[in-house]
Amino acid sequence: MNNKPLDYPFLRSKVVTTVISAKTSVALDSKLTAIQNRLFERAHVEPMELKFLGIALGKQGIVGDAIYANPSMMPFPIQRCEYLKSLSNRQIAILTACFFANFYKTVANSESQALVSNMAAAEKSFEPYSDEYMILHQETSEEMDHIWTFRSVYNMVARETRSEEPFEAPGFFLGMVGSIPQDDYNSVDTQFRLSEECSHILELLHKPEGLQILLDEMKKKGRGFRYRTQHFLIGDAMRLLPAEDVQSLGLGGLWLLTRFAANVELKQGESYLFVDPEKFNYEPLAYNINQGHLHDEARHYTTSFDIGLTLYQAARPEAQAFIRELVRMTMEDYIKGQFLVFPEMLEAYSKGCLTLPFYLCKQTLEMAMSHQEFSDKLNNIDDLFSSWAQMEWPKKLPPFDAGLLTQKRWRYISQQYERIRQAIGIEYDVANLGNLLHRYKDILKQENLTEAFILA
Ligand SMILES: [Fe+2]
Ligand SMILES: [Fe+2]
Repeated sequence: MNNKPLDYPFLRSKVVTTVISAKTSVALDSKLTAIQNRLFERAHVEPMELKFLGIALGKQGIVGDAIYANPSMMPFPIQRCEYLKSLSNRQIAILTACFFANFYKTVANSESQALVSNMAAAEKSFEPYSDEYMILHQETSEEMDHIWTFRSVYNMVARETRSEEPFEAPGFFLGMVGSIPQDDYNSVDTQFRLSEECSHILELLHKPEGLQILLDEMKKKGRGFRYRTQHFLIGDAMRLLPAEDVQSLGLGGLWLLTRFAANVELKQGESYLFVDPEKFNYEPLAYNINQGHLHDEARHYTTSFDIGLTLYQAARPEAQAFIRELVRMTMEDYIKGQFLVFPEMLEAYSKGCLTLPFYLCKQTLEMAMSHQEFSDKLNNIDDLFSSWAQMEWPKKLPPFDAGLLTQKRWRYISQQYERIRQAIGIEYDVANLGNLLHRYKDILKQENLTEAFILA
């Protein structure tokens, strides 16, 4: 990428006009802020940060046989693979600790986007220190606490396993959505720089028909460019542009509606990490981190949907059409990675496409197997993958264990995606999704998850 210094004459003049002219802001339905304020105050009657749990877990280490997640939630065939079935309780405990650490590492790397985007959206869309401004402000502070906590847990697990894999990784808003071609993954740059590409995007935003041109380019130049552009629009572009442009382009809406898709990804996993607590010996600190985080994220989820929708509706019609297309493509990428069963993820990986659950599987196994507790085991991960690829896999999800959890997660995703799809009027591209759209629709129709789910 070209890094030569750039000049933005039009930007300079815009910035000056914003300072001189009175700031505009988007009017929110006061019911929204009243509800959020009430929820927030109720939640903060007692201090409820997660850091103290992260500190305690960081000091305690992985001890005994207590587990850090439901084994059926781990993205590999724990009940079908002979090698995995042969693991001791202690080894399973370590494996779940690695899964927990890597799951929340991905979450933290997505949540770090909120630190920039929440504040930019608040500043450019609302009156400073108004209730709506403060909702986004407070969430930023909560995400800082979450990231701190997750990093402290990860560092402990990395220390105990002697893994050198860093905490930093590409998150949702850099394109880790559903499934990502390995080449795109390799070219993700987690360090932002104001490149010529950014200057080109900013120029298009100021041209008549510019949004349509940009959209066509995003479709033509491929997934990597699309997510780079989207990442710029929901972050630094929002900071650079004056408030009236951010509002008429609906960039705050684009941020919160894509954040909604990320909230769904988080919740479909996080809500089931510690299912049936009465049946399992869950590690209490890990369990409480999960419960505390779920609590905060339930509010963030509401914010993404309600405020995101309002900011989207305040945008001009061409911008609304632009946002709809970007949200649709993000949702479809997500469906393409999540509505797969494990052997399909394995196959995608062999063809150079990384699905998120498989990425997590790989990270978890690599980390666990560098722990000394695994030193006596035959632990070549590639051999494991090829043995799994040779296994017979049923074309259905049974209504128990991992099959039931997948059914629940798929149903949750499709129900939530229907909310956003109907609210802004998105039609999926049937040709792009193929049989995965059938799975999406079939699971929506399923009322009771007491039967095997036949895969379309
Ligand atoms: Fe969070
Ligand atoms: Fe959040």
